[in-house]
Amino acid sequence: MIRANPNYSKIQANYLFAEIAARVKACQAEKPSARLIRLGIGDVTQPLPAACVEALERASAEMGAAETFRGYGPDYGYAFLREAIAKNDFETRGCDISPDEIFVSDGAKCDTGNFQEMFDSSARIAVPDPVYPVYVDSNVMAGRTGAAAKSGRYEGIVYLECNEENGFVPAPPKTPADVAYLCFPNNPTGAVASREQLAAWVEWARTNDALILFDAAYEAFIREEGVPHSIYEIPGAKEVAVEFRSFSKTAGFTGTRCGYCVVPAQCRAFDSAGARIPLQTLWKRRQSTKFNGVAYPVQRAAEAALSAEGRAQCKALVDGYLANAAIVASRLERHGLKCTGAKNSPYVWFDCGMDSWEFFDKVLRNAEVVVTPGVGFGSNGAGFIRISAFNSRENVEEAMDRIEKILG
Ligand code: MLT
Repeated sequence: MIRANPNYSKIQANYLFAEIAARVKACQAEKPSARLIRLGIGDVTQPLPAACVEALERASAEMGAAETFRGYGPDYGYAFLREAIAKNDFETRGCDISPDEIFVSDGAKCDTGNFQEMFDSSARIAVPDPVYPVYVDSNVMAGRTGAAAKSGRYEGIVYLECNEENGFVPAPPKTPADVAYLCFPNNPTGAVASREQLAAWVEWARTNDALILFDAAYEAFIREEGVPHSIYEIPGAKEVAVEFRSFSKTAGFTGTRCGYCVVPAQCRAFDSAGARIPLQTLWKRRQSTKFNGVAYPVQRAAEAALSAEGRAQCKALVDGYLANAAIVASRLERHGLKCTGAKNSPYVWFDCGMDSWEFFDKVLRNAEVVVTPGVGFGSNGAGFIRISAFNSRENVEEAMDRIEKILG
C-alpha cells in the first residue's frame, strides 16, 4: 500500500496565497463586474527591463542556430552569470564572495525551501513569527516538527518573537537552536536589520555551532545608508551563513525565474562526531542530483540585469514600487495607522485593529482590493495586514482611495 507522507497532514491550512486566491475567486464569481486591484501577493506587474528583453531575444536566437545552440548548462550556472553576480552584488559592497560560491537557481522560494535537506532530521529550527511560510512548511514536510497547536505554531520549532516593541527584528534565541531563518528586508513586515543586530546573529551562530539562512530577496529595496545588503558584510559570516537572492523583485523575474544562493567554501555543518562538513559539498551534490539549471536565455537576461544599463533600469523599477509603498504608508498614516516597512521594502505592514481575515474580507468585498492577512504569516501577525506595493501607480492610488473610504 502506498502511504502518503504523514507530515503533509500536519500542515493545517492551504498555502497562504492559495487560500487568498480561493477567496478572491469566490468573490469574483459572486461579483463578476468587480474591478479587483491586487496588492496581495508580492508579484511584480511592470514589464521586464529593456536590457533583459534584448538579452532574452539574443539568447533565444542563439538557441535557434546550430552553431550557437546549447544543451544542458553547467550544473551551478553559467560562469558569465556567476562572475557578474560576484562582481556586482558582492565585490561592490566589500564582500569577498567568489563565483564558485554562487549557485544559480530558479528562485529564492525553491532554494529556501530546499536547503533544509542539508540538515539532520533532528536539527532544531528557529523562525521569526511572523514568517514567510515556506521556511516553516518545508521543515514540516520534512518531518522536523510535531503537530501544530491551535495558535498555528508547530511543536519543535523555536519561534522568534517579532513585534512592535522590537521593531519586528528578533534577537537570537535563548532556547537552543541549530539553524535560524532570517529575512531582511523582511517579508512580511518590511523591517530591516542594522549592522549591530546582524552582528549579534553572526556571533550567536559562531558561539552555538549554528547556521543562519539569510533570505535577501528584497535587498534591492534598501535605500537607507548603513543598512547591510548582505549578511557577508558582517565579519565572520562566511563560516556560519548561507544567503539567498532573487531576480524576481529586483528585475521583475517572478515569471521568468532566476535566483541564486551563496554557500561559501568555509560554511559548515557538523557530523555526529562533531567533525566539520562543508555545506557547499552537500549543496553541490543535491543540486547536481535534483536540478538541471536555469534556461540559457534566462541566465543571459539575469546577466543583463547586472550590466550598467540593466542596473539603472532595475533601479528605476524598484524606485517606482518604493514610491508606491510610500503612498500606501502615508495614506494609512492619515488614519492614525502606524506602518512598518515601505522605506526599504515593497511591503507595508500595519495593525488593522481587527481580525486579519475579517479586514481582508471587508476590503475584498467593499473596496475590491486584495491585501494579505498578517495572521497568515504566524500568530504574531494576528490583527495585522500586509499591503504590497507591486502594482501600477494608478492602481495603487485607486486602491488607497477605496481603502480610505472604508477606514472612514
Ligand atoms: C509574497 O507575496 O510573500 C511573495 O511574493 C511570495 C514569494 O515570493 O514566493
